[in-house]
Amino acid sequence: MMNAHMKRREFFKTSTLAGTGLALGAGGLATRAFAEVDGKPAILGGKPVVTQGFPSWPVYDETEEKALLSTLHSGHWFRGSGANVGRFEDAYSKLTGAKHCLATSCGTSALFTALGALDVGPGDEVIIPPYTFVATYNAVVLNYALPIFADSDLETFQIDPKKIGAAVTPQTRAIVPVHLGGSVADLDSILAIGEKQKVPVVEDACQAHLAEWKGRKVGTWGRAGCFSFQASKNLNSGEGGALLTNDDDFASVCYNFHNQGRARQSTGYSFAYSGSRGSNLRLSEFQAGILLAQMTRLEAQARQRSSNAEYLTSILKDIEGIMPAKMYANCTRNAYHLYMFRFLKDRFDGLERGKFLQALQKEGVPCSSGYEPLNKDKYVQALTQSRHYRKLYTEAELKHWTERNSCPQNDQLCSQAVWLTQNMLLGPRSSMDQIADAIRRIRKNAPEIARG
Ligand SMILES: Cc1ncc(COP(=O)(O)O)c(C=O)c1O
Repeated sequence: MMNAHMKRREFFKTSTLAGTGLALGAGGLATRAFAEVDGKPAILGGKPVVTQGFPSWPVYDETEEKALLSTLHSGHWFRGSGANVGRFEDAYSKLTGAKHCLATSCGTSALFTALGALDVGPGDEVIIPPYTFVATYNAVVLNYALPIFADSDLETFQIDPKKIGAAVTPQTRAIVPVHLGGSVADLDSILAIGEKQKVPVVEDACQAHLAEWKGRKVGTWGRAGCFSFQASKNLNSGEGGALLTNDDDFASVCYNFHNQGRARQSTGYSFAYSGSRGSNLRLSEFQAGILLAQMTRLEAQARQRSSNAEYLTSILKDIEGIMPAKMYANCTRNAYHLYMFRFLKDRFDGLERGKFLQALQKEGVPCSSGYEPLNKDKYVQALTQSRHYRKLYTEAELKHWTERNSCPQNDQLCSQAVWLTQNMLLGPRSSMDQIADAIRRIRKNAPEIARG
């Protein structure tokens, strides 16, 4: 960010540097040819394996600056008067092959719009995975419907279609699988359940830009597909979102919903009542301008991530106790928003995952344990005490909801998962070797690290 004292020229210089995607840490750009797998672990006082850091995020240069300045000077800052949002919608639908794209203020509002347009409301059930960001859940409870958790598939980290089938009831109004981490949920099985039960599928593709199932982009398979352009995402405008659909009527209901229930032809203060509920969930012209600029790098970055992630998997899978998330055979492209694996502590001499993560961080590898079980979260559990839910659902219905709310596979997944973020896959291949070397070093010294 430009601070008050930073001159414009300095701002450009800094931005251009950031545009290279390189994080220039205290260690500079020096690269090491050989990682010291045999050396002392950094957590026990040794030198970290990773020397050059990882690329920072976001990546930007003059393209974004020009986009922002031209919107600023145009004076057209919202979609009602500017052209950027429409241009972005055209570009994103062309890129994904979707018939319609509706830009929204964020991924949550894209989901909220999709469920609102499906008329999800009190008394309805919506099936979601427990292994997801809380937004998937919030989009359901904002409509006062019941979120029903279908357990995870331990191997792929995705929602288990068998558990979806078992969770469907006459109250089910939508199924919302999440393409978690940029990989793809088992769409064939999920769409077949939806078709058989006559329940629409809304893809939460908030983490899966450019991911594909059988060669076709995710977000174009269900009634709707929802994307997020929040700051951490592979396509980023700070905040932002989009909804894709191939259904003309549904597209216009979604448009009206995101525009205060007003139809496209409404002008000025006339309402042009569309018959839909609504809110203001519109994307701004500034955000659309940034997205168009970011899209110029999207494909190249995606290829770089895939190439590094595939290489990383090829070397990690030989380390006992490290289980990279598998992909379904029909996932023909993984967006790798996250690189995810399971850590099996019994193959690391009983080393606790928390200690493993600390040791890996000390070796210079940023990592985390990912999601906690959402279905068990206090926030979610509090649903049965909600004043509104107690008005809308009987005691017996809420009790039954609690009884259904068990996801043992997901509990195990949450206790074993390790995540690396997408920006780490934008560096050189040598960084992938260093990640693997750091893990090997920890494994070799697991008993000492456990004691330390
Ligand atoms: C799976 C999933 N769904 C929904 C969202 C919500 O997107 P946003 O933050 O743009 O509202 C996110 C964002 O992190 C997400 O990861």
